[in-house]
Amino acid sequence: MADNYLEKRYDEVFGKKTVTKKVGHTLDELLTRNRSTRGYKKEFVVSEELLKQIVSVNTKIGSGCNRQVLRFKLVTRDTGADKVLENIKMGAALPELHLPFPGTEPEAFIIVCSVAGDDKLALIDLGMSLQTMSLRAVEMGLNTLIVGAFNKVKIREAFSLPYEPVAILCVGKGNEKFELVPIHEGESHAYYRNNGIHYVPKVVLDDIIL
Ligand SMILES: Cc1cc2nc3c(=O)[nH]c(=O)nc-3n(C[C@H](O)[C@H](O)[C@H](O)COP(=O)(O)O)c2cc1C
Repeated sequence: MADNYLEKRYDEVFGKKTVTKKVGHTLDELLTRNRSTRGYKKEFVVSEELLKQIVSVNTKIGSGCNRQVLRFKLVTRDTGADKVLENIKMGAALPELHLPFPGTEPEAFIIVCSVAGDDKLALIDLGMSLQTMSLRAVEMGLNTLIVGAFNKVKIREAFSLPYEPVAILCVGKGNEKFELVPIHEGESHAYYRNNGIHYVPKVVLDDIIL
């Protein structure tokens, strides 16, 4: 039999592209691009429709006991972005920068609330939800920042939320450059910036496997 006969025959029957075609983004690509973004392009306005597309992942993901206790408030530039912005904190590891830089603030947010407070299963659901929404946003060409440091009382009041807010996801078109830096377990985990690049240390695989 000629070399590569089966491969060639397969290509003839099914077409070469069918065999090797890469559909969409790989998970690895999405994960690498999914960096916490604290500076956004003002000229790209995130609509409520785009936020809805991001939140829609929640109709397909797992949930402890399938309780599905999370609810989502969508906030755009015209529906209260300023009220969110004044109640969130960004970039605690770089206090001297006072992020976000003026003119690069996020202007679209998904406020995640829990009908079950912050019990253990609700918080696990929260993590899954935030990560999946972030990946969807990246797939759409957008970027996100998960915010846990925010004024719960003020945010709940400002939007008359019926449930406890447990996290906020900033959404927008990022204007930052990132690099992942492999580190070992004992080294500093703090992110840093140099010449306009935001470096994010990540512990290498060998150090996280027990
Ligand atoms: C649960 C959670 C809460 C976070 N809260 C904040 C926050 O309040 N403010 C902020 O600037 N970043 C926040 N971050 C982003 C982290 O700082 C970021 O994930 C970390 O520096 C690693 O960067 P990376 O997301 O690009 O991998 C949060 C991330 C997670 C997962």
